[in-house]
Amino acid sequence: MSDLQVPIVDLEDLAHPSPARTARSTEAIMQAFGTYGLIYLRNHGIDPALLDTFYNDFQGFTACDEAEKRAMSRPDIWFQRGWTPPNTERAVIAGGQPDFKECFFAAPEPLDPLGLMEYPEIYAPNIWPEGHEGFRDSYLDIGHQLHEVGLALLRGAARALGLAPYTFEAAAYGASHVTRALRYLPLNADQVQTDILWGEEHTDFNLLTLLPGGRFISPEGQYCGRPDDQCGLYLRTRPSKAHPQGQMVPGKPPEGCVVAQVGQQLEILTGGAFLATPHVIKAPRAPGYSRVSMAHFIHLHAHQILFPLPPFQTPEVIKAYSPPVLAGTYGTKTLVDIGLAPREALSQLGYRHYDRLDTFRADEGA
Ligand SMILES: [Fe+2]
Repeated sequence: MSDLQVPIVDLEDLAHPSPARTARSTEAIMQAFGTYGLIYLRNHGIDPALLDTFYNDFQGFTACDEAEKRAMSRPDIWFQRGWTPPNTERAVIAGGQPDFKECFFAAPEPLDPLGLMEYPEIYAPNIWPEGHEGFRDSYLDIGHQLHEVGLALLRGAARALGLAPYTFEAAAYGASHVTRALRYLPLNADQVQTDILWGEEHTDFNLLTLLPGGRFISPEGQYCGRPDDQCGLYLRTRPSKAHPQGQMVPGKPPEGCVVAQVGQQLEILTGGAFLATPHVIKAPRAPGYSRVSMAHFIHLHAHQILFPLPPFQTPEVIKAYSPPVLAGTYGTKTLVDIGLAPREALSQLGYRHYDRLDTFRADEGA
């Protein structure tokens, strides 16, 4: 596996006036997103102390009574804000086994007010637990910083592909970007060595995901290193002749790097030039260990059409990514698929005239 090295990009290289430095970053992005679907970012400017503060605050919330957390759990908005209980979300690729985790969702950026009217669940206002102001403040702070890092990378990615630098950023403006805090739950002695996974194999359905790095927690409640050399994040590389199913490689970023992952929306826009990589989170093989982590999801605006951009349109690509669909529709469908939205949400898509016709006919018959 020594030839499988996820490239690292220095964020300062992305828009540097030196052609040599921009060329270096362009090359890294093309190789990383084309082969692995993810890249490691250094010089991103995110303060590790802020991340520690956030994780401490988040654990303060997850340690609350079940009743207090349930008050923050909102199936009516498809869990897109507040607390998601364990065994709620499930991956689609892996056949729908629920993940062994609890989560919190909040939107750190101002969202398009029209989105709230059109997609009230996906663009819902934030909700916060009372008495946890530090949690809210550090959450929004780090979510915003991750968003800015992601936008800088999207500009670099557009340049690398020969597109106008703001192509992706403009299509994402005002979208339902969301930051998620996750706590992967400790397994007991009977559960370890079983097929329980912290996060089943899946691809992210958004445009770009930023992962600032999580923390393992020992059974004694202390931050600790990786409990064994098998647990944590694994990703599947692009299939090749030699490896038709791709290869599972550990996603172990160098110390202090942020990981950025390609989501399905970016794969579709680029006609597969960039790859949404399937990934899985394996639980430790020793009982009692948990993990906290966070992810920021940059989305396309709900009005954007999910279809390969003109430079990537070949007959094969058009066939592979057809038919086109609105990003908002795609989001609703995916949230149903992963168990966060109810199936009835699908029948809300688009304007429906059946009720009106029924009324006319009932009136005529009266
Ligand atoms: Fe993911």
